Amino acid sequence: MPALGTAFGLALALALAPAASHAAPDMQALAEKSGCFSCHGMQNKVIGPGFAEVAAKYKGDGEAAARLARKIQEGGKGNWGRIPMPPHPGLKEAEARQLADWVLGAG
Ligand code: HEC
Repeated sequence: MPALGTAFGLALALALAPAASHAAPDMQALAEKSGCFSCHGMQNKVIGPGFAEVAAKYKGDGEAAARLARKIQEGGKGNWGRIPMPPHPGLKEAEARQLADWVLGAG
């Protein structure tokens, strides 16, 4: 039944479009809700690097957003020291990507 697929695709596109265009203002709230600020300041290092430092480090790196999104979801270490970032499995892939884009815009 191809009509159903089209309708679903359309509904999905409609559902996603407003979320994407309003992503930026909600990011601070999502970061707060996700506990990011217990380890990160916007400017300063807490346990992990300040988000502005992250943005400066990856400035001009077109692949950084995808890598950081994966790291936010799966956790990891080694780019800033030996303390690992824990995984955030509760975040959806799209949320992790939005957070990565937002962090990269923080510099
Ligand atoms: C328990 C502490 C902790 C929490 C909570 C945490 N982080 Fe981190 N984060 C770290 C540490 C430590 C690093 C440095 C890891 C490294 O050296 O590669 C890091 C690194 C990062 C980086 C840079 C990764 C890289 O490879 O350069 C980004 C981006 C980031 N965190 C975003 C987030 C976001 C967004 C959240 C909330 C969803 C979050 N972090 C929550 C501790 C934390």
